[in-house]
Order: sequence, then structure tokens, then C-alpha cells
Amino acid sequence: MKVIHLVSELRQWRKEVGSGRVVLVPTMGALHEGHLKLIEVARELAGPKGQVGVSIFVNPLQFGPNEDFGRYPRELEADCARCESAAADVVFAPSVDEVYPKDRSVIILETSLSKVLCGASRPGHFDGVGTVVAKLFNYFTPDDAVFGTKDYQQLAIIRRMVRDLNFPLAIHGVDTVREPDGLAMSSRNRYLSTNERSEAPALRGALQLIREAFHAGETSAATLRGLALNHLSANAPSGALDYLELVDAENLQPVAEVNSHTVVAVAYRFSKARLIDNLELA
Ligand code: PAF
Repeated sequence: MKVIHLVSELRQWRKEVGSGRVVLVPTMGALHEGHLKLIEVARELAGPKGQVGVSIFVNPLQFGPNEDFGRYPRELEADCARCESAAADVVFAPSVDEVYPKDRSVIILETSLSKVLCGASRPGHFDGVGTVVAKLFNYFTPDDAVFGTKDYQQLAIIRRMVRDLNFPLAIHGVDTVREPDGLAMSSRNRYLSTNERSEAPALRGALQLIREAFHAGETSAATLRGLALNHLSANAPSGALDYLELVDAENLQPVAEVNSHTVVAVAYRFSKARLIDNLELA
């Protein structure tokens, strides 16, 4: 497996691999089982003759001024070992200066899907995500890219960007990998205190309550939301709700009546970690 830090070297690598299928897994590192699942899916898509590229880049553009950019875990050596054992072919780990010219002045601005849910509480976050992902697509010119569905909104925005700007690749969403107690795997779970960690599975619990009530015939979004909020305040009292919304799977706008095209999205703040999760009612 190659580890590349410079765009010029990545371009050279891309030329050398030629017309074989190239599948990209964009990450910010601190890789866990969820990322390894993405690499596994990428490997299957690439086949034995194709190439799997993993990018590892903590993207400053997607962090707000009071967010965790400075303390976001960086563990490149261990991450490279994980990528190698997952049969990736190349890791691209550029510096911030390599990615962003000092006088950069062009960004990707999504104007609809990015205004709700996480976008409402993290202004500018998805401009940063869109911009870096567009750059990664330009560096790798992949045939496919693989993202987790845990970041449902991110995936929807990337799909929209690819559609609207005609990036010539296919986007694949991969199911969230969970701890045995249901907590969605995340690089930020390590910020939880022992007590917060014991409360965090309540996010999944709240989503499952909604699913059960929906399958039992309840379709009022307000009623379903109320059930979930009660569950969270009873079972995760150390944290605070950022949002819990029942939205249309495509346009991410809140719905009053729930159907199989509804997604429930939740964000919850603990002292040092803001966790997200979601559930597709389909
Ligand atoms: O999901 C992430 O890890 C990041 O948002 C991404 C897609 C790698 C862009 O920095």
C-alpha cells in the first residue's frame, strides 16, 4: 500500500493505474470499524484489478470556530496500518497547505439541503464538506465513492452536488456500524465520559421507539417526536438535544405526517461530544 502526501504524486499514481476502476473512501482518519466497512465495500466495488483509495484529511473548512478541529484525533500511522489490513491500495494524507492555497476564494455552496438539521447548528459546515469532497473527486477522479449513511445529510448533499455539477462517478451509501449496545460508531465517541457513554445508546433507543410506533400505525410526526424526546430526557439526562426531526428523505424538509420515505435525524450534545444518528423508516 502506498502512502501519498502530495497532490502531484497522487496525480502520478492516478495516471499509472490508468483505466482500472478506482474507488475512493474519503475520511478524516481516526478510523474505526465503520470506516473499515466502507473500505470493505470499496474493495468489493473495485474488484481484484481495481484500486481502493482512502483519503485521510482533517478538513479545517468544515469546523466552526468553537468546534474540535484542534483536538480532533490524528493517528496517521495507526490509520495506515488499518487501511493496509483492509486491503486499501493507496492512502492520501495531505497537509492543510497542500489542499488549500492561502488566498483560496472559491467554495462549493449548497443552498437548500445544507440549511436544515446539522447545517442549522453548524453554519458553513457543509460548504467545507462540499468543497473538500469536490477537491478529492478532482484529485482521484474515482469511478465510485463510498460514504456512511450515519451522516445522512452529508450523503444527501454530496449526491446533490454530484448530480448538479455532473461529477462523473457513482456515490454509494453504507449502513452505520454500531457498538453492541446500538451506539453508532464515531471517532467522537472517545470524547464521552463513562456516564455519558452509558447514556449515549438512548439516541438509538429513541429512533427505534419511533420506528416501533410507526409500524404500530402512528403517523403523526409531532406524536412520534414527543415519544422520542421523552425517551431521551429520561435516558440521557447528562446531554441536551440539538435537534430531533422527522424529514423527507430527499429534500430533508420536516414532515407533519410520516411515511416510508421519512428519515428521523437526531443530534445530541454531551459535554465534549455532539453525536448524530438517524433512521430511515423505509
Ligand atoms: O465524513 C467525514 O469524515 C468528512 O465529512 C469527509 C466526507 C471525509 C469530508 O471531510
